[in-house]
Amino acid sequence: MTLLEVKDLNLWYGNRQVLFGVDFTLGKGEILCIVGESGSGKSSILYSVMSLLPHYAKVEGKITFEGENLLLAGEDKKRSIRGRKIGMVFQEPSAYLDPLFTVGSQVEEAYKIHFPEDANSKEKALQAMKKAGIPDPEEKYRLYPHQLSGGLKQRVCIATALVCDPPLILADEPTTALDVSVQKRILNLFFSLKEEGRSVILVTHDFGVVAQIADRVIVLKEGHIVERGSVFEIFDNPKDPYTKQLLEVAL
Ligand SMILES: Nc1ncnc2c1ncn2[C@@H]1O[C@H](COP(=O)(O)OP(=O)(O)OP(=O)(O)O)[C@@H](O)[C@H]1O
Ligand SMILES: [Mg+2]
Repeated sequence: MTLLEVKDLNLWYGNRQVLFGVDFTLGKGEILCIVGESGSGKSSILYSVMSLLPHYAKVEGKITFEGENLLLAGEDKKRSIRGRKIGMVFQEPSAYLDPLFTVGSQVEEAYKIHFPEDANSKEKALQAMKKAGIPDPEEKYRLYPHQLSGGLKQRVCIATALVCDPPLILADEPTTALDVSVQKRILNLFFSLKEEGRSVILVTHDFGVVAQIADRVIVLKEGHIVERGSVFEIFDNPKDPYTKQLLEVAL
């Protein structure tokens, strides 16, 4: 069953086009990895799906999520989807977290936006923090972002993305700041999300991560998809020279 369909997506920032006819679908319970060099437009795809583009961006095409074209949705509808139906782990956790609030209250706030009446919001936040692999969530809840390591901040962002149990999670380089053992735990978490029937789009530079976790892969170059396939096809029989080059550098 298709959860998300991106069709002929074109994106401009001002006059500059950065995505060209991007097409892909994502099934329920599927993990799609987007790979490509810096500046190829990976984050821009996620921001388009999340309806979080800057005002000077122009976007064309179709992004159909649960049967509705998000590009035609009004602000209220987009707000009701963002965080609740689509959770996002941003590339730069420090920029995303507010230094003035405890990390726990920020996870909790992400829940309260969508469930203002629920008296168990703190419990929900603690559960999400635990699920994201944060040890001692009760204690960490009370800390401010600057009191946490980069890896823990990253996991707080993951908790924020998970707290409303969204069916789709977008994760932009979620394991980059993490050491190998924590990385492993986060990849296991994505697996468990998949087992729960959730879908994940994971942006990564790391082909090791792709090999461990992806069902399907798209390779992006200068805003164009130059190759797509199952993880086996991409690793065993890459066709595009650019994919081969990326694999050569990585492996
Ligand atoms: N908000 C923005 N305003 C203007 N240009 C932008 C904006 N965000 C990204 N760009 C430009 O769009 C292109 C695609 O950027 P994007 O951040 O999507 O790439 P990326 O593949 O995620 O790169 P990285 O691996 O470095 O994160 C780049 O040329 C970038 O400079
Ligand atoms: Mg990016």
